[in-house]
Amino acid sequence: MVPTVEWKDGAVRLLDQSRLPEFVEFLDCRDYQTVADAIRTLKVRGAPAIGVTAAMGVALGAQTVTASEYEAFAQAVLVICEHLAATRPTAVNLFWAIERMKRLLTSIRTQPIASIKAALLNESQVILDEDIALCKAMGQHGATLIVSGQTILTHCNAGALATAGYGTALGVIRAAWEQGKQIQVIADETRPVLQGARLTAWELMQDKIPVTLITDNMAGSLMRQGKIQLCVVGADRIAANGDVANKIGTYSVAVLAKAHGIPFYVAAPYSTIDLKTKTGADIPIEQRNPLEVTTIHGSHPIAPQGVAVYNPAFDVTPAELITGIITERGVFKPAGLAAEFQ
Ligand code: MRU
Repeated sequence: MVPTVEWKDGAVRLLDQSRLPEFVEFLDCRDYQTVADAIRTLKVRGAPAIGVTAAMGVALGAQTVTASEYEAFAQAVLVICEHLAATRPTAVNLFWAIERMKRLLTSIRTQPIASIKAALLNESQVILDEDIALCKAMGQHGATLIVSGQTILTHCNAGALATAGYGTALGVIRAAWEQGKQIQVIADETRPVLQGARLTAWELMQDKIPVTLITDNMAGSLMRQGKIQLCVVGADRIAANGDVANKIGTYSVAVLAKAHGIPFYVAAPYSTIDLKTKTGADIPIEQRNPLEVTTIHGSHPIAPQGVAVYNPAFDVTPAELITGIITERGVFKPAGLAAEFQ
């Protein structure tokens, strides 16, 4: 896979996911404002990838701060952190990564500014490398749940594209495939931004993992026909009680899975678990531009001009609909997650 995000020649290089699958293009962000804009406009998206990119954005911004005294330097870096934190509200990995960078900034305050800059850059790379390792560990745990011959439904894109590499939900699928299990994937197209059609289908086809694309409203019918044996999705934030925020439409898939007796799993690393948020009702849900609903790619209209639109980017799946949460430490019941990760 081409890297989703990397530090390259003094810039944060992103694979521009808003252009996939038609164009495989890269965006070199040379200032933190461009990084923030890329997160806001979904050029990079997916909770872990957003976190990694934000950390690199902090590091990038810090390199350009000219202050020579720690207090002024730290103040400028905190402004950069705030700017990046204001991009998207739901994926907790964004705030987790920024907090980690801030903690480092404080902990090495006595070092020369040049060393602090180098340490911030190094930390963002550590976060990136760690994210890939977490995905691979999740993959190993999750693959034990998959039996050869199964067809697995996924929603949105929780793949290599949504992380620094390998993926969470797709990491589980990828690991099972690498173990030689003969599996098929059903990808929901995932309206309105089509992460399933544009990204999951593309990513799995790159790896030659069998994938069939459906529109979101087909999932129930397939389940009723016995064509799906397992569901696995990613997460943007998991509350202390095991409720999960993920791409809009995830809740519908979970309800359908329950109605048809199909196991429904969520795959996510510790950086997505937010024990400070008690339940799903406390998770802020991003509202996005109505044009995502009324047009294709912001240009071709598919609804009458001026129609009222509701466009929440995420929904909350209650813990009771979730069979298990696949993490880097193993698979847990949603109710058991807080005790394990406190
Ligand atoms: O709006 P997006 O594309 O950032 O939403 C992404 C999702 O909902 C993913 O399922 C989630 O971030 C998990 S990614 C491993």
